[in-house]
Amino acid sequence: MNYKELFDMTNKVCIVTGGAGYLGSACCKALKDFGATVVSLDVLYSSENQPSKEEADLGLYCDLASTDSIKECFSKTQDIFGRIDVLVNCGIFGAGYGKDSRIEFMDDETWKKGIDGSLGVTFRGIREIVPYMKENGGSIINFCSMYGLVSPDLRIYGPDNPQTNPPNYGAGKAGVAQLTRYAACSLAKYNIRVNAVTPGPFPKPANATDSEFMASLGNKNMLGRTGKNHEIAGAVLLLASDASTYTTGSNIVVDGGWTAW
Ligand SMILES: NC(=O)c1ccc[n+]([C@@H]2O[C@H](COP(=O)([O-])OP(=O)(O)OC[C@H]3O[C@@H](n4cnc5c(N)ncnc54)[C@H](O)[C@@H]3O)[C@@H](O)[C@H]2O)c1
Repeated sequence: MNYKELFDMTNKVCIVTGGAGYLGSACCKALKDFGATVVSLDVLYSSENQPSKEEADLGLYCDLASTDSIKECFSKTQDIFGRIDVLVNCGIFGAGYGKDSRIEFMDDETWKKGIDGSLGVTFRGIREIVPYMKENGGSIINFCSMYGLVSPDLRIYGPDNPQTNPPNYGAGKAGVAQLTRYAACSLAKYNIRVNAVTPGPFPKPANATDSEFMASLGNKNMLGRTGKNHEIAGAVLLLASDASTYTTGSNIVVDGGWTAW
């Protein structure tokens, strides 16, 4: 057995949703570095705005709120590259911010949008990719969150923090953890593996300006700091590659120890 080859992604075609984002772009680059053909889906792409060649082979405009848009992107990927081996469900939208983010004030529409933007997008991604993986198997990796496992400590957010963490976000992500197990059980017969990764605090550098808030995020995990986007990529690569062919229904937590104490 050549163990290095287990991580080789040559000849594998991977789709990453939300691939233009902070964690999605790191996943795209890691998969490409190990030889994969990578298609990144995001609302930010257009013919003028494409990912760099080190990051992805193609960036397709996709609105994850729309099943038709997802269908079109999967079908285009299959037509251009001839197969789809890996789907990373990383993209997310809509939740509720400011006053709207608080459980006493959130209206029904905001609640539903946040649940759809976390759990609904994951469900649609899984359902729509199955026809492409049914014959040869595949790997689906869903992005959960530490706030799908434990509640945010709202004392560190405060009422006016723009990064306030709304109730529909964590509830949707808790659903992603369960949907991962359900889908793993349903799709094992096609040799489609379904796993999750659970990031802890990975603030985007542009948002990491409030040093007091950043310090409190650091203090709440064992390693005493927030994560950098490349630190999520190893877990995604493992689950995407043949190094994890006997792993399904699992959830790799990458949170500096936040949820373990
Ligand atoms: N960064 C963190 O601290 C953290 C922590 C826990 C979990 N996560 C999870 O990791 C994943 C990635 O997070 P991130 O920090 O990279 O976020 P991000 O905001 O940087 O990336 C999200 C991407 O999704 C895209 N997007 C938004 N609406 C879309 C739509 N309708 N259709 C298609 N694309 C759309 C955005 O353009 C963006 O590029 C998310 O699922 C998030 O919940 C992140």
